[in-house]
Amino acid sequence: MKKYLSILSDMEQKIMGGVYSPGQKLPSVRNAAKTYECSISTIIRAYAELEKHHAIYSIAQSGYYVVQKPVDWQNKKEDNLIDFTSASPDPSVFPYLDFQHCINKAIDTYKHQLFTYGDSLGLDRLRQTLVSHLAGDQVFAKAERIVVTSGIQQALEILTKMPFPNGKSVILVEQPSYDIYLQFLAAEGVVVRGIARMATGINLRELEAEFRNGEIKFFYTMSRYHNPLGTSYSIEERKVIANLASKYNVYIVEDDYMADLGEDRDFDPIYAYNSTSHIVYLKSFSKIIFPGLRLGATVLPEQLLETFHSYKRYADTSLLSQASLEVYIKNGMYERHKHKICKQYYERMHALNEAVEHYNGEGLIRVSDVSSGVYMQFKLPQTINLERLMKRLSERNVNVVSGKGFYLPNYLVREKFLRISIARVQSKHIDEGVKAIFEEVKRGYSDPQS
Ligand SMILES: Cc1ncc(COP(=O)(O)O)c(C=O)c1O
Repeated sequence: MKKYLSILSDMEQKIMGGVYSPGQKLPSVRNAAKTYECSISTIIRAYAELEKHHAIYSIAQSGYYVVQKPVDWQNKKEDNLIDFTSASPDPSVFPYLDFQHCINKAIDTYKHQLFTYGDSLGLDRLRQTLVSHLAGDQVFAKAERIVVTSGIQQALEILTKMPFPNGKSVILVEQPSYDIYLQFLAAEGVVVRGIARMATGINLRELEAEFRNGEIKFFYTMSRYHNPLGTSYSIEERKVIANLASKYNVYIVEDDYMADLGEDRDFDPIYAYNSTSHIVYLKSFSKIIFPGLRLGATVLPEQLLETFHSYKRYADTSLLSQASLEVYIKNGMYERHKHKICKQYYERMHALNEAVEHYNGEGLIRVSDVSSGVYMQFKLPQTINLERLMKRLSERNVNVVSGKGFYLPNYLVREKFLRISIARVQSKHIDEGVKAIFEEVKRGYSDPQS
């Protein structure tokens, strides 16, 4: 079992069993990482999961606390729960049998070699396979520039900690941005700056000013299916960002975690416009296959290779996972499964758009314009009390994520929104869930004190 899951289960038992009582502060992320002998990002993920299930809550600059009446969320009846929170693939579509076959085939093929530490840069044959796999997304690179990592998270951790040739140290993030990475940056005490990204895009002049004036080491961005907005950059935006990177010697860390969910085959990542000098391209295999595989690929410019390799030496990536993925891609199962998932998500997104159109007559909620991927932003009127809204929805068995956690603590120009994910909600339940959201938003808007 993944370390993070066993930690999560241990914490949950402690909460349920009263070792941590209601209102009690949980150990700091740093202390918990020491106790469980794991990385800080593993604890952040476990806390985020507990928070998502309303077992704990966080107070900025203070810590995590146990809620007054923790729910037994693992045993909670999931049948009638409409869960708009999770972005992990639906367990009902996990390719168990196909993958089992690939694991067996990998063991047969590689034999004892699979049970060694292996090369920290990744299994050679997988890196070769990834050359053509990535080329399908206009990411052209020799195998020497590809490193296999334990998911994008490990790559982000290394990139954050290692020095860059531009000698700069500040990390620029979009606001809002991927919550777990923001928490990681805070826990590591990294100097971070934020730049607004709206559902309509980013202000490129402001971005240029940041690149020109700031001490920006890299700009962390999601070019498509942004988490939490769901939107993608226009071709113009991607080209300009690629050019600004070289012009101002600022690196771009392009998190393409949902690359394979693209219905739009003409979408070229930022990397495609500046493939050799300043773009680090990150790909995840968590969203198409399953996160437990813990595999991702990092494509690096030549000048970052040596330092990245030296940091990666301390961060292993399972050979068994890698060899199985290599078989899975090579025998065409990956491509087949990808189409199945994409089709399913596309139908769900369609159902979401239809439901929004149906219930949003008054335009109370502004939604981001997305037709594929898994996320949509539901922008709420500023007067809505978010906590109360979420509590009322939870009482109606509809779980949603608030936009709050996707901002840096000191970033003040915030939008008030919900992040809606369709990854775990079947099409037939989407309408009911969206109806409940609109009803509760209307109720909170017309009577803010209620
Ligand atoms: C934006 C973003 N990047 C990266 C990840 C994690 O990717 P991985 O599982 O490959 O570490 C996630 C997970 O949800 C994510 O939302």
